[in-house]
Amino acid sequence: MKFFLDTANLDEIQKAASIGFLDGVTTNPSLMAKEGIGDQEQRIKEICAITSGPVSAEVIATELDGMISEAHKLSSLAHNVVVKLPLTVSGLEATKTLANDGVKVNLTLVFSPLQALLAAKAGAAYVSPFVGRLDDVGEDGMRLVEEIISIYTNYAYETEIIVASIRSPQHVLRAALIGADISTIPFKVIAQLAQHPLTDKGLAAFLEDHAKAQAKNS
Ligand code: E4P
Repeated sequence: MKFFLDTANLDEIQKAASIGFLDGVTTNPSLMAKEGIGDQEQRIKEICAITSGPVSAEVIATELDGMISEAHKLSSLAHNVVVKLPLTVSGLEATKTLANDGVKVNLTLVFSPLQALLAAKAGAAYVSPFVGRLDDVGEDGMRLVEEIISIYTNYAYETEIIVASIRSPQHVLRAALIGADISTIPFKVIAQLAQHPLTDKGLAAFLEDHAKAQAKNS
């Protein structure tokens, strides 16, 4: 499973790249706003200078022509930009046109398997089901991902599934168990993946035993 980082924060992206867990990045207008960024173009270029993996940049326009022209502008910023469009009727129509022009699209804000089917039929390179937001309203977000995997397998669609709106290591675990292509993960969850209290306890015991043995031999 590929690990994307779900952030617009350069320090987090740099850190994940140094650790070796950075296959790509996803951003959205809220993540840009969190960094105090109004005009995302410079930040997208900076992110693309750190990673050669896919970097999703979301359009602000909501009608067809605006989406298409914004998408072309974003995709000209770097070779690895993926344009993120909302899964609306206009978003699907724009996806078809952009896919024909060779622009990679990530259809976002996906909350149902039928929306994901439409995304694949429109030619989206990626689809982003939001698991955490579904859990927040009492649904099972990961069940949605299972259903999308079944549909895409039935028809051999090549659209890659990005499990989005991840809130905990459990989401990452379930995504890996069911074979999702990609998880886009907040930095703090990536850090949690490596943690286990027994690892810390075991390490402390090893170091203590080593120190005792050295003291005995000195
Ligand atoms: C995905 O591409 C989105 O940027 C993101 O995962 C949304 O997560 P949230 O529900 O925590 O805002």
